[in-house]
Amino acid sequence: MHLKILTLPGDGIGVEVTREAVRVLEAVCAKFGHTVKLTEGLLGGIAIHKTGEPMPPETARLALDADATLMGAVGLPEFDNVPPSQRPEKGLLGIRKTLGVFANLRPVRTYKALIDSSPLKNHLVEGTDLIIVRELNGGIYYGTPRGISGEGADERGTNTMTYTRSEIARVCRTAFNLARARRKKLTSVDKSNVLETSQLWRRVAVEVAAEFPDVELEHILVDNCAMQLVLNPRRFDVLVMENMFGDILSDEGAVLAGSIGMLPSASIGGKLPSGAWVGLYEPVHGSAPDIAGQNKANPLGAIGSVAAMLEYSFGLLKEAAAVNHAIEAVLDQGKVTADLKPKGKPLTTEQVGQAVCEAL
Ligand code: IPM
Ligand code: MG
Repeated sequence: MHLKILTLPGDGIGVEVTREAVRVLEAVCAKFGHTVKLTEGLLGGIAIHKTGEPMPPETARLALDADATLMGAVGLPEFDNVPPSQRPEKGLLGIRKTLGVFANLRPVRTYKALIDSSPLKNHLVEGTDLIIVRELNGGIYYGTPRGISGEGADERGTNTMTYTRSEIARVCRTAFNLARARRKKLTSVDKSNVLETSQLWRRVAVEVAAEFPDVELEHILVDNCAMQLVLNPRRFDVLVMENMFGDILSDEGAVLAGSIGMLPSASIGGKLPSGAWVGLYEPVHGSAPDIAGQNKANPLGAIGSVAAMLEYSFGLLKEAAAVNHAIEAVLDQGKVTADLKPKGKPLTTEQVGQAVCEAL
């Protein structure tokens, strides 16, 4: 197979972890006889510096031209006091929307070797294996009206959470399909005791459930879900939720996995004008400016995102499994970065990338 991949390393540690992810991608392709053509684009703070825009039109063009996009992270502290419309993060929201990737899959599992890395008690986190499906193209992130208006005591900030029936139905379908291939349990997360969007969400989830009689659907309120995730994470298989709930709960998932550096993600669902599916793959973590450029960041979330890309964009299941096994082997050997609190000396970002390639 020939894989045309766009990389968007972005800002901070995004650059370092993407480099290792690419190294692993090339290694797995070489091993299984595939070829890769890589193109690099600008996104986030670096794009603002070089072009004045967080997502330059050229980046959108390159992403639409690629089979799949591998992203690092965006965000720089110098933009902390800038309005959302001019921030690096706007580039990420732009690329998600441009590609139409409405379902963000964020798997959370506890590896045996990392059980002590979680601050939670071992017996609670052991055996966790769940996927958060976060709606990614709608909700309060994109809703209008939005903005800050007025003055003095009347100055007002406004954001709008809005969902259409079809936006809810398509992400629920993706989640049901995933659940069908796993333990056949879907948890729909909402705040239907307060929000109208959630009441519609729950109704549509129930309607879509009729297409999946073999999958059990349960509903849970988002606040309770936050608690259940740390009390009894094993009760979850696939969870589906709106954009901001997914943003928040997936960071909580990081605590179960030992470090946010471990979490990969796949954003899927979009189709190109040609009819081909597109995917955007990125670690869940951010740009971590405090450790950027120090060769300390954990590249395993980014490397796991390569595995997700092989699986979802190319259907290369053996190749994806090989990458995931290599990650597991490296963890078992204790070859990990500082965030995972190894017993011995922590490895660098580059050394972990190399170790994964060797394990492959
Ligand atoms: C994430 C991040 C992003 C989000 C930020 C960087 C815009 O937190 O992918 O979880 O909120 O979606
Ligand atoms: Mg987040």
